[in-house]
Amino acid sequence: MMWLPTSPSALALRTWLGLGLFVLLCLGMGQALEKKAVNGKVGGKVSLPCCHEIPSSESLQKYRVYWQKNITDVVLAYSEGNMIPNHKRYRNRTEMDPWNLTLWISPVEILDNGSYQCVVQRNSVVVCDESVSLFVTADFSKPSITAEVSGGSCESTEMVVTCSSHGGFPRPTISGALNNVSVEWNASWVSEPSLRTYSVTGKLVLNVTKDVNITCSVEYSGFATSTSLPLKNINDCVVPPVPPPYNVIIASIIIVITFILAITLTARYLPRYVCSRCCKSQDSVEEGVKGYTKPPMSSKGTAETSSV
Ligand SMILES: *[C@@H]1O[C@H](CO)[C@@H](O)[C@H](O)[C@H]1NC(C)=O
Ligand SMILES: *[C@@H]1O[C@H](CO)[C@@H](O)[C@H](O)[C@H]1NC(C)=O
Ligand SMILES: *[C@@H]1O[C@H](CO)[C@@H](O)[C@H](O)[C@H]1NC(C)=O
Ligand SMILES: *[C@@H]1O[C@H](CO)[C@@H](O)[C@H](O)[C@H]1NC(C)=O
Ligand SMILES: *[C@@H]1O[C@H](CO)[C@@H](O)[C@H](O)[C@H]1NC(C)=O
Ligand SMILES: *[C@@H]1O[C@H](CO)[C@@H](O)[C@H](O)[C@H]1NC(C)=O
Ligand SMILES: *[C@@H]1O[C@H](CO)[C@@H](O)[C@H](O)[C@H]1NC(C)=O
Ligand SMILES: *[C@@H]1O[C@H](CO)[C@@H](O)[C@H](O)[C@H]1NC(C)=O
Repeated sequence: MMWLPTSPSALALRTWLGLGLFVLLCLGMGQALEKKAVNGKVGGKVSLPCCHEIPSSESLQKYRVYWQKNITDVVLAYSEGNMIPNHKRYRNRTEMDPWNLTLWISPVEILDNGSYQCVVQRNSVVVCDESVSLFVTADFSKPSITAEVSGGSCESTEMVVTCSSHGGFPRPTISGALNNVSVEWNASWVSEPSLRTYSVTGKLVLNVTKDVNITCSVEYSGFATSTSLPLKNINDCVVPPVPPPYNVIIASIIIVITFILAITLTARYLPRYVCSRCCKSQDSVEEGVKGYTKPPMSSKGTAETSSV
């Protein structure tokens, strides 16, 4: 074969071998990259796949199968077809398919969250050993929003807004929006020790100037639940009174009358006084101009300036 690389059959074989190797590599890489993961809800049923299927010619009798969690806990195990005593937590909640060795858990509990291993032995030789992650979620209650007026002025109402949700798993994130504009909740979490569930509370101090909608969303492992509440600016107190129009009219009339009076008086008495003075000064200027020997342009300019 090797010394006949140009023959068509050899080429085809090499191509096939190459492809096979490539496919194997891909499978290996795929398995290494993506770890098996299963999602389950509290109270529901999950199936965790194993890595071996017993051929129909054989039976569980020839095998040892261990389903264990976190290396230490035996979830379910079979040896020569018999169930090996397992951890109390899993009794009556687990089953295994006798052919494809899939593990069923029902009802699922929060404590079941974690990594599981399926180990299969045949005649004391390990056939396969594989892990699968179980991600457990418990639904959070629909958030409840309360708003408490804490102060304000005529323009705005200051409110302390609280959003809370409880009874879920895993630890959630809380987000908010004021008419679509995102706002940050000051969040705090509490874990219920026996149930392992979480409660979340978000607080926010707002100055409400116009009617707005506040939304609170609680998100946990791909799920979300949210509530909206309209907020009103209740402090629409009476705006400081505008001066009534008749006051303005009276004030204007007084101003106008005073002005007219002032003008009339000025017109009557001032002109005489001013005129007598200005006539005098004009006379004196004219006398001065006459005394000069008539320079053509500048004399005119001086005369004009003086008369002004
Ligand atoms: C294993 O077999 C059961 C039926 O007994 C089937 O429902 C399940 O899908 C199978 N799982 C796998 C991983 O083949
Ligand atoms: C898993 O085992 C490790 C030690 O082997 C321990 O630190 C960890 O808390 C265990 N996790 C669970 C969920 O039991
Ligand atoms: C499992 O179920 C059996 C009978 O249904 C019962 O006697 C036993 O106490 C149960 N075990 C646990 C750990 O709940
Ligand atoms: C649930 O189990 C998965 C898989 O082991 C782990 O990655 C995750 O951190 C666990 N979640 C919690 C909240 O313990
Ligand atoms: C607000 O959000 C809704 C839907 O979430 C969208 O239809 C609407 O256009 C948004 N309005 C603004 C002003 O972004
Ligand atoms: C959040 O709340 C805590 C206590 O409730 C407080 O100490 C902290 O200053 C608050 N943070 C912000 C950013 O409001
Ligand atoms: C709200 O307005 C008051 C004054 O009107 C101000 O003292 C307070 O800091 C404001 N609060 C916020 C959260 O903007
Ligand atoms: C608030 O939401 C309600 C419906 O949920 C809508 O009718 C109303 O127009 C919204 N108000 C504002 C200010 O976006």
